[in-house]
Formats: sequence, C-alpha cells, structure tokens
Amino acid sequence: MEASATSKLLVSDIASSVDHVPSNYVRPISDRPNLSEIETSGDSIPMIDLQELHGPNRADVIYQVAHACASYGFFQIKNHGVPEKTIERMMTVAREFFRQPESERVKHYSADTKKTTRLSTSFNVGSEKFSNWRDFLRLHCLPIEDFISEWPSSPVSFREVTAEYATSVRALVLVLLEAISESLGLAKDSVSNTLGKHGQHMALNYYPPCPQPDLTFGLPGHKDPNLITVLLQDEVSGLQVFKDGNWIAVHPVPNTFIVNMGDQMQVISNDKYKSVLHRAVVNSDKERISIPTFYCPSLDAVVGPQQELINEEEESPAVYRSFIYAEYYEKFWDRALATESCIDLFKASKT
Ligand code: OGA
Ligand code: NI
Repeated sequence: MEASATSKLLVSDIASSVDHVPSNYVRPISDRPNLSEIETSGDSIPMIDLQELHGPNRADVIYQVAHACASYGFFQIKNHGVPEKTIERMMTVAREFFRQPESERVKHYSADTKKTTRLSTSFNVGSEKFSNWRDFLRLHCLPIEDFISEWPSSPVSFREVTAEYATSVRALVLVLLEAISESLGLAKDSVSNTLGKHGQHMALNYYPPCPQPDLTFGLPGHKDPNLITVLLQDEVSGLQVFKDGNWIAVHPVPNTFIVNMGDQMQVISNDKYKSVLHRAVVNSDKERISIPTFYCPSLDAVVGPQQELINEEEESPAVYRSFIYAEYYEKFWDRALATESCIDLFKASKT
C-alpha cells in the first residue's frame, strides 16, 4: 500500500513529525477535554478483591458488585485470576506490534467495520466528522480457532500470546457474569444464558504522544455497545469516567483490570445497571496502550430485559423490547461514536 507523507493512514505515522495536530483532529471549543479541570484526587471507582468470591465472604463481594454496578457502572478488580505473566506478555506483544515499521502494520489496515480482524485509526473513518488520536487493532477471539489464522503473525509470538490472554480473560468474564447475575438477584447462569453462543472481541488501542492534547481526544465520550468490557491499561493515565456531572480520571494500578457495563447489560438488567459514559484523553510526552476485551452476545442472540426483572403491574415494566444483537451492533457502527448510545432506538413502545 502506498502512502505519501500527506496521506498517512495511521496517526502513529503522523504523530512524531508534527508539532501541531492536523485540523481534522481539532475539536470545537465546547467539545474539548478541559484537562486542567479534571478531578484527579477526589472520587475514584471502587476496587473489588475477587479472591473473596471463592470463600465464605462471597455475599459481601456480590454486594460490592451490586453497589459498583448500580452507582458507577465501573469498577476495578484485583486477585482476578489472570496470571501476571499473561498480562505482561500481552502488553509487550501489543507494544511490539505498534512499534513495527509502517509497511508491516498497514498490511492489516481496513476501514471496513465488518471485518473481523483489522487495524484502523480514530473510531470510524467512514462516518465521523473529527478524527481521534488513536490507532487500534481489533480482533474477534471466540471461538479462537475461527479467527486465529486472520490475526497478525508478526511479531512471531503474537498469536500464541493473544490466544493465551483471550482464554484467560474469558474465564474471568464468566466468573464476573455469575457474580453480576447474583448481584441482580438472578440465578448465576442467567446473564450468560442470554448471550447465545457468546462473543468476545479485543482491541489493542495505541495512543501516540500528542503535541496538543487539549484540542483532541484519544476516544471521545462514548458508551460501549457490548455487555461488559474488561480493560487492561499500561502505566500511563488517560481513561476518564463520567460520574455525577464530572469526569473522573482512572489511574492505572498494576495487575488490575477495569470492568465497565455496556449497553447490553443495561438492557438485560432493565436499566438497573446503566452503561456509563467514558473517554480516553492523550498527553504530550508518553504513548499509551490499552487493551479492552469486549464481551458480547453472539450476533444471533435475542437480547431483552430478564423476565424476573420485569413487572408490568408495578414500577418496573420492560424498558426495552427484545432484539437480535446483530441489529444493535450494526446500528452502533453505522454512526460516528456519539455521546448518546443507540439504546433509545430499542425502547419498548409506550402504547
Ligand atoms: C474503548 C475504551 C478506553 C481506554 O476502547 O472502548 O473506552 O482507556 N477505551 O483506552
Ligand atoms: Ni469504551
């Protein structure tokens, strides 16, 4: 693929040669990160120790999960069972991937949102008005054997390391889904049973240093369309979560993950657990890598509020209609990344 100096596909290949962000990255004044106003010392999202899930204090952990999901839609987890080595190897191979020469990286480039393995930039270059200071490699990883042959084969350990990581994170997600089901007063397997064959995607997000981080975003405010997201981030801050009218910075804690509710959890829980607005900001001196795992229903799954959480006579009628996940997912990618999720399109009719 030919790319001239002025038509680079990836922001990684622009970042080091500019001292201003190109005009397509510059947001209107009303839509900038206001980095100096961010709460960095105040409220933080809860940290939950998952060790205790497997002992006599399980009920206490379930209570913490219920509180975190209902009040924040976000929590951090420690003692989560994913080996430190697995995490370290994943982060290293992601860094190695993005440090490869442009010619190697662009082999994976595609702007087609339907492709199951692709490298791209920003969010959706086909539909957005402003560009974001991010490149990302997106992979489908469940079942692994259906997708692994599409994954990059360079660095040479990429497939092996990513497969090990995806398998380990999936086991963690299944534990979390049981805890979240219980926290909603449902049987352990309730949420898992609504996901059809289940789906798991990953993104390797690469945010290069940015000469004017006040003018642009790594990712602007958005809600995740999937069920839950399990985010691994390196030691550079950038994630912010919207809570009670303020953006809170979530600083990295080694060997922890950040878990957040996505739109499908909001639907399944019939609005008990809301999908929460979050964003990623960039900075002028350090690159940042984050690796979200997006756990989701399979495309053919029928998603809707859990029966046990609906009571038409009392105060909890079904807020959403049932739909096929493919329908939702298509709507999500059709739009530019917007502050408002597309969940309103799936509300139950009020007649
Ligand atoms: C995402 C996301 C946050 C981050 O990829 O959906 O919210 O810190 N990422 O990179
Ligand atoms: Ni997100």
